[in-house]
Amino acid sequence: MRQRKQRETWTTRLGVILAVTGSAVGLGNFLRFPGLAAQYGGGAFMVAYVCAFLFLGLPIAFAEWAMGRYGGMHGHNSSPGIYRVIWKNRIAPYFGVLAMIVPVGIYMYYVYIESWCLAYATRYLLGAMNFGADAQRYKQFFEHFVGLHAHGESLSTPGEGLLGSAVFFLVVCFILNFILIYRGLSKGIEWFCRWAMPALVICAVIVLIRVLTLGTPDPAKPDQNVLNGLGYMWNPVKTPAMLAPGEVPKSFWEGLADPEMWMKAAGQIFFSLSVGFGIIITYASYVKKDDDIALSSLTACAGNEFCEVVLGGLITVPAAFVFLGPQIGSQLSNPFALGFMALPNVFNQMPVGQLFGFLFFFLLFLAAITSSLSMLQPGVALLEEGLGLNRRASVAVLGFITAIGTAIVVVFSKDFVALDTLDFWIGTFAIYLLATFQTILFGWVLGVEKGMAELRRGAEIKIPEFYKYIIKYVTPLYLLVVFFLWLRQNFGVTAAEQNRIRQLFTDPVVGGVAIFIVAVGVLFALLIAQSVKNWRRIEASQEEVVI
Ligand code: ALA
Repeated sequence: MRQRKQRETWTTRLGVILAVTGSAVGLGNFLRFPGLAAQYGGGAFMVAYVCAFLFLGLPIAFAEWAMGRYGGMHGHNSSPGIYRVIWKNRIAPYFGVLAMIVPVGIYMYYVYIESWCLAYATRYLLGAMNFGADAQRYKQFFEHFVGLHAHGESLSTPGEGLLGSAVFFLVVCFILNFILIYRGLSKGIEWFCRWAMPALVICAVIVLIRVLTLGTPDPAKPDQNVLNGLGYMWNPVKTPAMLAPGEVPKSFWEGLADPEMWMKAAGQIFFSLSVGFGIIITYASYVKKDDDIALSSLTACAGNEFCEVVLGGLITVPAAFVFLGPQIGSQLSNPFALGFMALPNVFNQMPVGQLFGFLFFFLLFLAAITSSLSMLQPGVALLEEGLGLNRRASVAVLGFITAIGTAIVVVFSKDFVALDTLDFWIGTFAIYLLATFQTILFGWVLGVEKGMAELRRGAEIKIPEFYKYIIKYVTPLYLLVVFFLWLRQNFGVTAAEQNRIRQLFTDPVVGGVAIFIVAVGVLFALLIAQSVKNWRRIEASQEEVVI
């Protein structure tokens, strides 16, 4: 086996902050967040969201940064290696299966959605997105493009050539991700995020200015104006102008008493900050010993919140409300529906809509690719440091595994069944498990005192002392309560609630995807077992040299 190579590191501090922020800012910010906030009534959702940010997102991000740098100082970049350094127990590295399967599994469907963004941006640029005033045409195009009605539907592109082929754009995105990962940490990820992040913010600000200056585009519908659009998104209680026909308004307190909303807010914080993904811990392992990780983590989280609450929150829903009215509520149950089915209709009605359509989907694409890139690095780190593979081999192995998963998502596209199964079991369930494991590892195994000392070393800002207690007691308790609510909702007592479990045995596609997830998990467990053997051998030879 090869000896450990010279460690890779980030080139600049700004570079690592942009890379972590790039990982966080993604489709979650511009599609998922606005949809959820509007669906749960703006103000009430924001209360749950801010609580989840302060008591879950921020503390777990701190923990991942501190454990990552700690592991990096001990020569490890992969989560299994880092867990093993912190917890001297034989089973510790095997929790790394979760830290591999979460980013790799999410990548498998995330890159597909990313490719829709690239496709829409390209089509806007080339003037191929104007289907006229018929709103149904936009919906039909999307449904056929992604293969919503039949398995394998997206593999055919009647009459449109490459421009109408989701698979073509997927292949482009897939290759782009792997080229950037192949170029390495600083020449690939850091270099790309350094220009993509500012470009994304510039595009978003331009689109935002356009949305905020829309006024009342249709004088025949005076209620459909920007102020009501903002109110629809943010007001604690909807006014009559913001209610769809027949909709019963909910009070702020009624909204706040909804356990499902608290659960969704917590899930959004995880997804949005990329915490519980095994990504931050890997990224942080490449920082230098005395770099300021406290300020970096806070800056990355703040950057994500700016993009989510300010940019994401003010663009998508208000724009859709102004042109489509309060009926958009019926489209919010699927967060992607709004982005890909409703917004093209909005851009079509907007002056210079082609340009704004392009800017919007291009910014979505940039946001998505800086996130999907980060989902590949944990796997590459394990293959390189655990098995001693070179970059070419590790990228090839990971490319092969993810290509199979993505192909499953594309082929079994009817009702997004494969995508939805991966999103549920990996993008929600496994994230909770990993976040909980890492919280306990930091607060109770590494020890909160040692962990906080690690966080403070080299820091120009002081993380308040009380965060110690939050990380040790409040975060695990909060996780437990949210997890309990989630289990109750998904695997509750009624037959309908047990649907997710039943589907595993009754729906061959859902069952097949589950078997695939387990197979990938077993593969990673075997790779980790081999890595542990290799690490032991290196450690034994180092001990001999010392003797
Ligand atoms: N954090 C990424 C997003 O929000 C995964 O899309």
